[in-house]
Amino acid sequence: MPDRKILVTSALPYANGPIHLGHLVEYIQTDIWVRFQKQRGNQCYYVCADDTHGTPIMLKADQEGITPEELIARVGQEHLADFTDFGVAFDNYHSTHSEENRVLSELIYQRLKEGGHITSRSITQAFDPVKKMFLPDRFIKGECPRCGAADQYGDNCEVCGATYAHTELKNPVSVVSGETPVERKSVHYFFKLADFTDMLRRWTAEGHLQNEVLNKLNEWLESGLQEWDISRDAPYFGFEIPDAPGKYFYVWLDAPVGYMASFKNLCSKKGLDFDAFWGRDSDAELYHFIGKDIVYFHALFWPAMLHGAGFRTPSAIFTHGFLTVNGEKMSKSRGTFITARTYLGHLNPEYLRYYFAAKLSDGVDDIDLNFQDFSQRVNSDLVGKVVNIASRCSGFINKRFAGKLSARCAEPEMFEQFRAAHEPIAALYEGREFGKAMREIMALADRANQYIDEQKPWIIAKQEGRDQELQEVCSMGINLFRLLIAYLQPVLPALAGNAAEFLNIATQPWPDQAQPLLSHGINKFKPLMTRVEMDKIDAVVAASKEDLQETRQAAAKKFEAIAETIDFEDFAKVDLRIGRIVRAESIPEADKLLRLSVDIGAETRTIFAGIKSAYAPEDLEGRLTVVVANLKPRKMRFGVSEGMVLAAGPGGKDIWLLQPDQGAQPGMRVK
Ligand code: MSP
Ligand code: ZN
Repeated sequence: MPDRKILVTSALPYANGPIHLGHLVEYIQTDIWVRFQKQRGNQCYYVCADDTHGTPIMLKADQEGITPEELIARVGQEHLADFTDFGVAFDNYHSTHSEENRVLSELIYQRLKEGGHITSRSITQAFDPVKKMFLPDRFIKGECPRCGAADQYGDNCEVCGATYAHTELKNPVSVVSGETPVERKSVHYFFKLADFTDMLRRWTAEGHLQNEVLNKLNEWLESGLQEWDISRDAPYFGFEIPDAPGKYFYVWLDAPVGYMASFKNLCSKKGLDFDAFWGRDSDAELYHFIGKDIVYFHALFWPAMLHGAGFRTPSAIFTHGFLTVNGEKMSKSRGTFITARTYLGHLNPEYLRYYFAAKLSDGVDDIDLNFQDFSQRVNSDLVGKVVNIASRCSGFINKRFAGKLSARCAEPEMFEQFRAAHEPIAALYEGREFGKAMREIMALADRANQYIDEQKPWIIAKQEGRDQELQEVCSMGINLFRLLIAYLQPVLPALAGNAAEFLNIATQPWPDQAQPLLSHGINKFKPLMTRVEMDKIDAVVAASKEDLQETRQAAAKKFEAIAETIDFEDFAKVDLRIGRIVRAESIPEADKLLRLSVDIGAETRTIFAGIKSAYAPEDLEGRLTVVVANLKPRKMRFGVSEGMVLAAGPGGKDIWLLQPDQGAQPGMRVK
């Protein structure tokens, strides 16, 4: 029996959103691998944590009117509950906002600094003058400099695919405050990744990576490694950098350290030796399961950080592809952005564990969840093949033989074939070829069913004097079922647990030494798994669309947050009047603007309004609206705007011009 020391991690999920089926590809993949290692008798630990730092989490807490600490405590619990209900069994689930992580992050930083691998210089960045914070590119929106599409992020355009610097955006606004960002300088700290070029060349060549990932890395190494910006300015939710007041570690600096921190926390609970796993001379194996979007952080920065700080580097990084649903990216509007919790409300988590196992390989290809295929595969493989063996044989054993299996194994050779399959199946699990492992196991299940079909116990049962034969055939079936369950146990822990209860045995070790159960009493059979019903899947999709409604409402709520109070005198200065739009024209060169002529009683004003995305000019002529009549005239690209019309809404098609009651007359004051 192998006896290896293994530490395994999955990527740490961000604490600003729920676990969804995409995430679960990774956690289920890792969990299956870990359960397999444990079943084999290896000393294996699986640790994870919530990734709690950074701007999005800080702002989300802000929006909800709670502290980041409150937010991450709540989300951390939700995440762990989701994982637990999907059978993902961590040995420890921790948080990056923990004392262990602070200490280890500081230690790694100090050692890198002492090694001369940290440098600092002043850089210029977008700054929100209202919120008084620097803005990551995702928090700046504006018009694409190439195609002019509105509402694009600060780094790339989703319409035409252009990438650019946020400074090139036209009419940029801060997503946080709506204000125009300004440029501001501040000192940042950098990790000199290029110092580790040779080390990384060696490390990547040593076989720690899949081929596709290795090719990507070689490309990056060829084009030269850049310094990595590891600091952020206050306000920031994270760890303050020692000796640098107001500067914080960038979330991605302390996130992978969270792997160590979670293990450290486990060490203190269990009395394990931290250095035996992380020390430079460790003989333990260390594996990180990740998605393909975060390879850069794990295969470049992380080994370099570890090496530079005197720790061991990972034995391997196992990268998987992304989940698509029915062949497309998960989509909120199609109801295929499915959270773990929504799924759990309708379907058995082990269906998904089996389906993912059946689809997973050791590669980085995306994997598709097709609902038709999902129900068909679960129904035909698990219900139709595996569970069916037990239900076909157990009735006779219980009714005719008081639940007792035969004293003799009817087909020792067949049992031996099933046992010998442990070797190829183990090799497939070990190599993360879960799909192939499931096919091997299902081929065995087919053979077991074929055996029962040939022996026809339901016919033997009706014949005089063939009792022993009946008992032996059914016992054979049950013994084959037991081996199949042993092989499926990493994938289907709950089903395996119930099967063990039925078989009246302890949960099984890897069956390399298995012997048939003889003269053994079993329990009454209870259905171990029911068929997937299509209407349950429909219910999940429908509920996911409802989730979308809720997030829309939550998003709308965000607009109600009031920024700053003004005095009554300030308000009194605003002269609001009823206006009638007498003419509305489109300005072909402008994406958003319409030119309006508005009758406000005493005079007719020219007003430019950014409502083109929501209104056609012909819909506006003749309409009443509310106008700020005493706004200083503003020179704009297409002329002078002499006031402002009032509208509400988040933007795009959702802009609503304020419309007073039809009895109102142009020129009336609105106060
Ligand atoms: N917080 C970082 C990881 C830090 S690790 C030190 C992060 N979090 S995440 O919540 O966005 O993603 C967690 C893991 O789930 C990542 O490995 C990511 O690749 C994976 N997945 C997220 N969405 C996914 C799919 N749609 N499909 C498959 N895996 C996906 O990244
Ligand atoms: Zn564009």
